[in-house]
Amino acid sequence: MAMQTRPRRSTDFDGDETALVSGGGAFFGSDAAAAEQLVVTRSINSEDLHQLLEQLAGEDCVHNWKNFGSDGTLEALLRWENDLRPTEIFFFYLKRDDLMRMVAVGAVADRLMHGFPHPGFCVLGRCYIIPEFRGRGLYRRVLHYRLEYCRERFGTALSAVHLGSDSNWIARVVANHQLPGWPRFIHLGQEQLTVAGKAKLVDAYLMLLPEYLEKIRRALAGPRPPTCVVDLRHALAATEWDDVRNVGAAVRDGFERARAYGWFDQRDAREIEQLLTFCRSVPLVGFG
Ligand SMILES: CC(C)(COP(=O)(O)OP(=O)(O)OC[C@H]1O[C@@H](n2cnc3c(N)ncnc32)[C@H](O)[C@@H]1OP(=O)(O)O)[C@@H](O)C(=O)NCCC(=O)NCCS
Repeated sequence: MAMQTRPRRSTDFDGDETALVSGGGAFFGSDAAAAEQLVVTRSINSEDLHQLLEQLAGEDCVHNWKNFGSDGTLEALLRWENDLRPTEIFFFYLKRDDLMRMVAVGAVADRLMHGFPHPGFCVLGRCYIIPEFRGRGLYRRVLHYRLEYCRERFGTALSAVHLGSDSNWIARVVANHQLPGWPRFIHLGQEQLTVAGKAKLVDAYLMLLPEYLEKIRRALAGPRPPTCVVDLRHALAATEWDDVRNVGAAVRDGFERARAYGWFDQRDAREIEQLLTFCRSVPLVGFG
């Protein structure tokens, strides 16, 4: 059953919506000349939320709200999410004149889980584009909004941004997001999720912010590096231009060998250790 989101009056909202860039027209209907905007808000009415959750529950996709069910309120959903980790949920609408139609949702968590010890490792999750609005480039815009939100929230303390997905379409965007001012995502490894009682493997990606990556590099700098440190440098350099996979395991293996060699006896390995703690906490499959 395809969901038809009903247009809403913008006055139905709390006034907390933020306009993103112009949509360029034609999402609502055939009038391509009409100006449309993508707007984002943290509120949703109960009918739209129920429809969204029902649609999502009936679709074969890896989305954690299948574990929440289709009957809850926004407050219950926020409680459910925040029991897991501190999370904000954003609803995206296309707005023309006074009318708004919900087209997408996405969330940002400040950290992987309560108790994760290192601030500045954000998690993007729960993205869902309403089927009738798919294939029009909305995913990249929802991604961009959430990245900017992370930067606004953490500033220079933002170290990394994580997302997990089994979608080939998301993989395409993640491999080449083309968002100015943002580095590329690396493929960390795979994680196993349980969605609606079924175990699913998804690809885990991580974007390392330049200052954080620079600190990691500093720990690897120095003359006469042993092979394991050279390998580690290569593994990290490749993240900038190559479609390398399973970087998490490569960093773990290189780090263990370099530590055994004594490379870190006089160097600060804090940032690499944070990265490995993150990989273990995800947890990446086979990351003992
Ligand atoms: C995965 C999902 C978010 C993608 O949304 P979308 O609006 O269709 O994605 P976009 O239109 O932004 O396209 C993303 C990429 O996939 C490609 N793509 C989209 N639809 C496609 C199609 N029908 N055939 C081939 N490629 C397609 C696009 O070309 C784009 O890549 P590009 O920009 O490099 O060209 C959406 O399908 C969805 O909500 N799925 C169900 C929920 C889900 O799986 N969520 C992920 C949980 S992490």
